[in-house]
Parts: sequence; structure tokens; C-alpha cells
Amino acid sequence: MSILITGGTGSLGAYLTKALLKEGLGDHLVLFDYRPDYERVAEFAGRVEIVSGNIADWPDVLRTIKEYKVRKIFHLAALLFTESMERPYAGFKINLEGTVNLLEAARMYSVEKVIFASTIATYGPGLPEPVKEGAPQVPESLYGIAKLAGELWGLYYHRQYGIDFRALRFARIVNAGRSGFGTALFPSSLIEDAVLGRRHEVNVPGDYRVPITYIKDAARALVMLYKASDVKRRIYNINGILPSAGEIVDSVKAHIPDAPVNFAKNTEAPPLPMPLSYDDTRASEEFGWGMKYDLDAMIDDFIQEVQKKHGIGRER
Ligand SMILES: NC(=O)c1ccc[n+]([C@@H]2O[C@H](COP(=O)([O-])OP(=O)(O)OC[C@H]3O[C@@H](n4cnc5c(N)ncnc54)[C@H](O)[C@@H]3O)[C@@H](O)[C@H]2O)c1
Repeated sequence: MSILITGGTGSLGAYLTKALLKEGLGDHLVLFDYRPDYERVAEFAGRVEIVSGNIADWPDVLRTIKEYKVRKIFHLAALLFTESMERPYAGFKINLEGTVNLLEAARMYSVEKVIFASTIATYGPGLPEPVKEGAPQVPESLYGIAKLAGELWGLYYHRQYGIDFRALRFARIVNAGRSGFGTALFPSSLIEDAVLGRRHEVNVPGDYRVPITYIKDAARALVMLYKASDVKRRIYNINGILPSAGEIVDSVKAHIPDAPVNFAKNTEAPPLPMPLSYDDTRASEEFGWGMKYDLDAMIDDFIQEVQKKHGIGRER
């Protein structure tokens, strides 16, 4: 009887694995990933199973769920926002067909619980803020469209087949070691570069804001939702904090005064096709959710994580 984490060697997958092991919930963890990042999960060697496979490939999904006698699933594998925009057909195969594959295999093999990493990109722009879960969802991005379909598919499989489907709508997740491109890496790459003494030109204006959540809070929210004995509404916002780019740089420089970070000239704020603030009272009421990392705590912990990873002593 195993717990499967799709995208298990990705950023959130690795932090979730750590959180589950810490809680004593990780006796049989299977990390499923189509490009397993063995280094990222090296610290769990011998305690988890790593399976290379593609959620868009039906036989891969079926074989894994059957072979490992999977009973619970955290479904995190996805192409993220920008990459789905660049590769729309791959976005469909992975984010939509992959989710349907997983739910269907879960139905066939009597998986009890599926926890889905959804996103605030399932909302479109122009909604009254803070946005509540019941607000109309008319996403403009392909990423948001596929994730919304995944939510609806999951709710259907709950109603029709009794799978305990639950989901969280996350804001942008911040952590070290994030790969990708464009402004989607903001502010993760800026903080990491600052710690490593790498020159970094911030490619958004100083007053640019995007809601962000520290990865440890995101992983903790998934575990809290997983552990909740009963949930009423199944899908929950996890609100982020909303510092400006200038405030983030100030906070980084308060920790690392000589960080070689500056703003690029004449940048324009990239359009954000979704609102900025979200009401997550529902998550607080139903499973006790509350954010732990404000901006300063996030930056402090982020710096320590990068230093640990690179064996750097802490200088202040
Ligand atoms: N990063 C964010 O800002 C953010 C925000 C909201 C929601 N989410 C959601 O959280 C989840 C985890 O995101 P993350 O930040 O860890 O991203 P990530 O890119 O670090 O991890 C995703 C993992 O999924 C794997 N993957 C991709 N396609 C796959 C496929 N076809 N089959 C198997 N594995 C595949 C990748 O190899 C990667 O390891 C995703 O579902 C994402 O949509 C992320």
C-alpha cells in the first residue's frame, strides 16, 4: 500500500516528501517523475521509491498504480504556466490528459484519496478581491484552463465513484533551485543569485507585485489537507503574500547588504491574467490552515536553504 507523488522529484514534490517523512506518513512513498531529479531527492535515498514515467502515458500510469498498490495520490506533475504557454499541446497532454489518466487509474484500482495541486490561475482577471472559492472561474491561460478541468474532473470522480478528491489553489511558489524561464522565476532566482553572489538584474519594475507562497508553507498545506479527517468543500484557496519587487529586494539586502542585485532599466510589468489576493478562510476553517512564512521569514529561511545546499557559512 503506497502513497504516490506524481512530479515527486520536482520542487514541491521534494518538500512534500520531506514533510510526509517528518510526519511519519511516508512509509511507502513512490516518487513518479518523467525526468527524475535524483540529486534533489538524494537525502531520501533508501526511504522512497523513484519511478521514471510519464503521466500522459496511460500504460506508465496504470502499471505504477497497480504495481505499487497505490492507495493515496498527491498529483503534482504538471507543465507550469509559462511552459504550457510555450508548448500548448504538451500542456494539454500533461496537465489535462495526464490528470484524467491518473483519476481513471485511481478509479480502476480503488485509490482512496487524490490530492491535486491546482492554482489561482484557474481564476480569470476582473474579480472582486480577495477572491473566494465560489467566484466564477474563467481562466485566460491554457495552464489555468487545464487545471480547472482537472478540478472539475476530480470533483466528478468524487461524486460518481467516491474517490476522496481534494485540491489546493496555490499562488506562485517560491524556492531555491527552481528552473524555468522568464518572469515566472521571479523572485526565486533573484534571492538565490543574491545568496550565491551572482549578479542579478531584476526584470520587473520595482512596484510589480505577484502573490507568492514559500514552498515550505505550500508543502505544509498539502499535508494538512491530506490529514484532515473530513472536508466539506474539497477545493481551497491558499493565499500568498503580496510584496512589491522593491520590497523583496530591500528585504534581501537587509540580509545580504552587498548582494549584486539591481533593477533593469525600462522594464514593463508583465500582465498577470488573474487577481492578486485570495480569501483562504475556508482552508483555515476546515483544516486549520495558516501561513507561517511572511516575507522576512521566507527570505531568511530561503537564504539558509541555499547556504546549506552549497555548503556556504552564514555571513552577516
Ligand atoms: N510553482 C508554482 O508557482 C506553482 C503554483 C501553483 C500551483 N503549482 C502546481 O504545483 C505542482 C508542483 O509544481 P512545482 O513548482 O513543484 O513544479 P516543478 O516543475 O518543480 O515540478 C513538476 C514536476 O513534474 C514533473 N513532470 C512534468 N510533466 C510530467 C509528466 N508528464 N509525467 C511525470 N512527471 C512530470 C517534472 O519533471 C517536475 O519534476 C504543479 O502541479 C503545479 O502546477 C505550482
